[in-house]
Amino acid sequence: MDEHKARLRASDLEDSGDIGVNPTHNLTMGEIIATRFNRRDLLRGSLAVAAISATVGTRALAANEQPTKKGAAASFDFKEIEAGVDQTHHVAEGYDAKVLLRWGDPLFPGTPEFDPQNQTAERQARQFGYNTDFVGYIPIDGSSDHGLLVANHEYTNEELMFPGVGVQDAKDVAFAKMTKDLVDIEMAAHGGAVVEIRRVNGEWQVVKDSKYTRRITAETPMEITGPAAGHDRMKTSADATGRKVNGMVNNCAGGVTPWGTWLSCEENFNGYFWGALGDTHPEAKNYKRYGIGTPAYAWGKFHDRFDLAKEPNEANRFGWVVEIDPFDPNFVPKKRTALGRTKHEGAAGITNSDGRYVIYLGDDERFDYVYKFVSAGKVDKQNRAANFGLLDEGTLYVAKYNPDGKGTWLPLIHGQGPLTEANGFKSQADVLIETRRAADLLGATKMDRPEDIEANPQTNRVYVMLTNNTRRKEDQVDAANPRANNAFGHIVEMMPEGGNHASTAFTWEVLVKCGDPSVASVGATFSSDTTKNGWFGMPDNCAIDNQGRLWISTDGNNAKATGRADGLWALETEGEMRGTSKHFFRVPVGAEMCGPFFTPNDETLFLAVQHPGEAEEGAPVSFDNPITRWPDFKDGMPPRPSLLVVTKKGGGKIA
Ligand code: FEO
Ligand code: CA
Ligand code: CA
Ligand code: CA
Repeated sequence: MDEHKARLRASDLEDSGDIGVNPTHNLTMGEIIATRFNRRDLLRGSLAVAAISATVGTRALAANEQPTKKGAAASFDFKEIEAGVDQTHHVAEGYDAKVLLRWGDPLFPGTPEFDPQNQTAERQARQFGYNTDFVGYIPIDGSSDHGLLVANHEYTNEELMFPGVGVQDAKDVAFAKMTKDLVDIEMAAHGGAVVEIRRVNGEWQVVKDSKYTRRITAETPMEITGPAAGHDRMKTSADATGRKVNGMVNNCAGGVTPWGTWLSCEENFNGYFWGALGDTHPEAKNYKRYGIGTPAYAWGKFHDRFDLAKEPNEANRFGWVVEIDPFDPNFVPKKRTALGRTKHEGAAGITNSDGRYVIYLGDDERFDYVYKFVSAGKVDKQNRAANFGLLDEGTLYVAKYNPDGKGTWLPLIHGQGPLTEANGFKSQADVLIETRRAADLLGATKMDRPEDIEANPQTNRVYVMLTNNTRRKEDQVDAANPRANNAFGHIVEMMPEGGNHASTAFTWEVLVKCGDPSVASVGATFSSDTTKNGWFGMPDNCAIDNQGRLWISTDGNNAKATGRADGLWALETEGEMRGTSKHFFRVPVGAEMCGPFFTPNDETLFLAVQHPGEAEEGAPVSFDNPITRWPDFKDGMPPRPSLLVVTKKGGGKIA
């Protein structure tokens, strides 16, 4: 490893999302917003005031006002909270938001209580991991009061986890204090967890000695399945079969299937690999397209498989969707290669009218694509085991959005169109290992960082979160990505032809352009009933509750950029209220909002608070000097990423 090579901050893997395209460091989001969208300056100018009154309703400027309820048209009843940022979380009046699991909480009998001064990899592997993004609830016997929680542990913040260490992934620090012990703790804090939970007298509890409890880490043995399994490009010195890999990394969002498995998505896997291959190496073009070789972690210093110079194929074994059976703690997780290799945000699916399973997939990078997978077989509702191969055979498609509001799903099939040997694709395995390059050749639409995508089973409409893209230039604007310098993101709504999710045709429209609607130059398009608190920016994860309503969690708001913390918003999609957003929950300073997931009866909402206390735009924070000690607020205890349960006081559906 060249010690002078630029490092990538692990936290920036999430924020920049452009590593595979352009490794230069442009202005940060905060700087861009400060220069382009200075709200105070805009409000001072009379021209700006005129522009504002012409484009937005009065509520966007008013504090503490609730959106107008247009009779039965309003589907959300809660009283919205005030947007802002402080050291703790806030939920709408009449609701409880309680911490259920914190980073470090022991999950197995006999594991000692969390002690950050005496942490070890062995302990971490038996504790709840770090930075939960996706949370899923899988009912036991259909219950909304008893089930399995599945949670991803996406990434780690060494500066907040380890005493006396500070930021290690900055260019000038170059992982100087990262020891093998610390790296091994990081590896054990990645992956995911399965935890049995039960609601007793209205209170959710972890079932302590459950037979289902499981921690998955960056070293858990996994199997590679589907068309790329066993291919030469998947073989390493440790695995001559090309079918066995240890661990999953950077698991962001995911999904749960109707047959009760958990899909966990490897997102910014590029940041874990050291070393360079040289421009003439056969994998050079492949790795460049994914931004591999600029590490955000020191794992390659102590583990050869994360050093490309020693193990050039290992990185081909990451970037997949992993299927896990949470009911079998001995289940070997499966990397399902048929779903493609990208920086997978999530994998939420829907059973199509003909029984096939369709999964929508976002590749979270600036100018990358929206995909879907359509299974060849049908979901078998009678025989659970029959579904375990369903995600190994099917067709992967990438989306092309046309300016007329129509669109096409282009299949990634070897031998069709440009996906031939002449372009370096000798088999379907090659197409999947280099999914991005295949999609480039098909002419897919370059999007503003596709995050979570969810289909609404009640309407069959599909919601695509596009979080932001400040690199899009005026001459790169298109109908589906209509703003240059898109700091706040937007949401695209897609309707599959005839409600058939397997169809290659769809129509689409922009549901909302995000940002502060009272600043005319932002160009946000929330309904005029949206209040000052109700607007949001940077949509990331989303969920559709069992009443068919859309909830959106955000990543990227902060005190400097927007004066508000990330959080959860409820967005009307139907009728007169369409485009009206309300603020339900907000996270403590430095955090991003993850989850959300509802129990089948909509009485419990699971949320994850990811990286509380993480630096905002470079402010120095550390274990020893945090900006919040949420949720414990105890001296010596750092902030702890945690999973929360939200319920209505006195019971009832989240309204
Ligand atoms: Fe891990 Fe795209 O957020
Ligand atoms: Ca996300
Ligand atoms: Ca989701
Ligand atoms: Ca995120």
